[in-house]
Amino acid sequence: MRVQVAIIGAGPSGLLLGQLLHRAGIEAVILERKSGEYVLGRIRAGVLEQGAVDLLDEAGVGARMHAEGLVHGGIHLCFDGERHRIDLAGLTGGKHVTVYGQTEVTRDLMDARAAAGAKTVYEAEDVSVHGFDTDSPVVRYRKDGKVHEITCDFIAGCDGFHGVTRESLPAGAVRNYERVYPFGWLGVLADVPPVSDELIYVNHPRGFALCSMRSMKRSRYYVQVPLDEKIESWPDDRFWTELKSRLDKQAAAAIVTGPSIEKSIAPLRSFVGEPMRFGRLLLAGDAAHIVPPTGAKGLNLAASDVRYLSRALIDHYRAGSMKEIDAYSGKCLRRVWKAVRFSWWMTSMMHRFPDTGEFGQKIQETELAYLVGSKAASTSLAENYVGLPFED
Ligand code: APR
Ligand code: PHB
Repeated sequence: MRVQVAIIGAGPSGLLLGQLLHRAGIEAVILERKSGEYVLGRIRAGVLEQGAVDLLDEAGVGARMHAEGLVHGGIHLCFDGERHRIDLAGLTGGKHVTVYGQTEVTRDLMDARAAAGAKTVYEAEDVSVHGFDTDSPVVRYRKDGKVHEITCDFIAGCDGFHGVTRESLPAGAVRNYERVYPFGWLGVLADVPPVSDELIYVNHPRGFALCSMRSMKRSRYYVQVPLDEKIESWPDDRFWTELKSRLDKQAAAAIVTGPSIEKSIAPLRSFVGEPMRFGRLLLAGDAAHIVPPTGAKGLNLAASDVRYLSRALIDHYRAGSMKEIDAYSGKCLRRVWKAVRFSWWMTSMMHRFPDTGEFGQKIQETELAYLVGSKAASTSLAENYVGLPFED
């Protein structure tokens, strides 16, 4: 089989890239090692920057997002028992974020790809990439006991942090930057109305908490837990009690609890692999970088990379140029590092570290008090949270 672009991974990065390329008349195949149901079963993030919303519209998959997504103009920071609103829209000249689950984004992209009749191979086993330092790279995979080979012009590594493409690079080709955080997030999804109509980020001596949502009938809550916590130690009652203990009095009294429909513990890390392009192999999304979810940047960075990558590939096929392909990695990384910094900063300010102690807690609370009291400091948070500008 021959295609112009072989995409490895059918998560948000791979599916969004495939859809943008299809609409530009560029033929791409997506190889995904899991089933479609498995991919849809992953509970992930839920906040979209305007840039991601615009790109989903450009991909022709924005209808349900606009119908069902929740447009938010602010977030709340809760510390020292008090809640403070950050007026995102007021501080950024009217920019908003849209709360719309990654599962729904993935579902919309899968439906669009199926409707377009574009090829996705699910449960593709033993995917391997070859010759990406030549003009005609090759991808091989096994399906139904047979080995298949795809020749292509480019390979897009959209296969996430545990994928095969970054692992296939020659030793020493990637400079890795990483920080692993000494705690995790215990997340609960429940069909109960959210405690607030906007997100609440909580700094508390017992640890971080977050009140989010998927709709006005489905809530998403998180509490920081030690890395070695086991999900079995957290029956629903214990989770709700712990969450309430970290909220301000009004929220603790108002919260509606109920049975969890999903409950999991996720570790937190910051990771960036540089560069993001190796000949005809270009990495995008979690394949190239990971951020702690505190800044809600994971999905938005995936969309950011795909924005640059789709434009570079379209430019190549329309103008026969490699100029934007050559510029891809640098453009992505300048925006990636700013989001990595912001996510690290939010995580450092909102979480209880082993060495935080009483002095560290006072410093965090003082930094937060300064932030909510300073228009300059709040503007800095707001412009990063709604999404920094793109380079074009
Ligand atoms: N062969 C084929 N597919 C693979 C392989 C492989 N060897 N390894 C991984 N994959 C698939 C995974 O099964 C997954 O469906 O690649 C896909 C990668 O998707 P994600 O991990 O969701 O990464 P990405 O599409 O970049 O989306 C980033 O997902 O993890 C969240 O917080 C992150 O919101 C962000 C978003
Ligand atoms: C979520 O709704 O899952 C969510 C929202 C904001 C974050 C992280 C996760 O910063």
